[in-house]
Amino acid sequence: MTNPGTPARQGRSAGDGEPPSREGRGGRLDIAAFVRLTELADYIVPFALRVVCDLRVADHLAGGPRSTGELAAATGAHEDSLRRLLRALASRGVFAEVAGDRFELTPLAQPLRSDHPLSLRDAFPLLAAEVEAWAHADHSVWTGRPAFELVHGRPYWDHFGAHPAQGRRVDALQAAATGLHLRTLVPAYDWAALDSVVDVGGGNGTFVAGLLARFPGLRATLFDLPDVVAQAPAVLAAAGVADRCEIVGGSFFDGVPAGAGGYVLKTVLPGWDDERAGALLRRVREAMRPDSRLIALEAVPPPGDAFDVAKLFDVQTLVMTGTGHRTHEELAGLLEGAGLRLVGVTRTATLAVVEAVMGDAGPAAPGR
Ligand SMILES: C[S@@+](CC[C@H](N)C(=O)[O-])C[C@H]1O[C@@H](n2cnc3c(N)ncnc32)[C@H](O)[C@@H]1O
Repeated sequence: MTNPGTPARQGRSAGDGEPPSREGRGGRLDIAAFVRLTELADYIVPFALRVVCDLRVADHLAGGPRSTGELAAATGAHEDSLRRLLRALASRGVFAEVAGDRFELTPLAQPLRSDHPLSLRDAFPLLAAEVEAWAHADHSVWTGRPAFELVHGRPYWDHFGAHPAQGRRVDALQAAATGLHLRTLVPAYDWAALDSVVDVGGGNGTFVAGLLARFPGLRATLFDLPDVVAQAPAVLAAAGVADRCEIVGGSFFDGVPAGAGGYVLKTVLPGWDDERAGALLRRVREAMRPDSRLIALEAVPPPGDAFDVAKLFDVQTLVMTGTGHRTHEELAGLLEGAGLRLVGVTRTATLAVVEAVMGDAGPAAPGR
């Protein structure tokens, strides 16, 4: 007898010998849709992926297939539990089980290697503070308030500031995503036209280091909270760009370094409500030259039902900070309120490039 949970029955209507059911009455019982819904509701795969990232399993498979016994010895994990974890992930195409209880990397697993040029290993941490907030996501939907604050008693960035070890993991997460962002955002904007940039809320400097490495004529200032920029010298030195980047620690609500040609705000504005984001933008406007460009790099949800990761980031932002990702029109309004004028939104495979100028500046430069 066919297992009613398998897709083998997909496409049959409720009338095809199916006992009448409340779900199926008056329409087709689309088993494939049930299976798909179950996949979407699953949080097993995301957690399993994060555990193998923490265990660096992909690094241990870089040299070729290994048995679960070898992997357990190399990672310190419990062998049978590791086998079950890898079997589950292999069923989703992350790793493949080869003959004799051995696993190997699949193309999907390659970016989980630490030495991959676009490594995503640090992009998927098992970040308990975020996970605990997600367990109360309904609070955000009931109230519009961040579940993170309900659970941890203080705002997201304050929490990670108070827990430096966890904060470093968040920085590493941002830096891992930034590798991919650089690939998509560099070709999407005329960075070569800028003499200097300030990366406002620039984290540990990974993005600005990537920009400086690609544009030898560019100078930069990295600006973020003091404990965050403390990590930057090593990042800038590793990229060989330390001599072209000043590091400044402080709060962007108190003011930002003045006089640069470009002001980069990468994934910063979505973390603040309109009042705070407006205040931050006014500080940036005060620092801008008449010809400066503000370049906000962030996910911008498009209209309609088409999939766009911005629509998912938006919910993550709601749960963590109680704020969200702004649409094109919302960004235009926010910028206008701070005396800035939106001149273009260029979407890429990752973030969008949102460009603005001083509100009383002339028309946008051609080709931007
Ligand atoms: C979402 S992260 C983005 C980091 C970086 N721009 C990136 O895209 O990888 C937001 C950044 O804003 C910084 N930040 C938060 N509050 C700040 C403040 N008051 N002044 C300066 N930076 C702040 C955080 O430390 C963090 O690095």
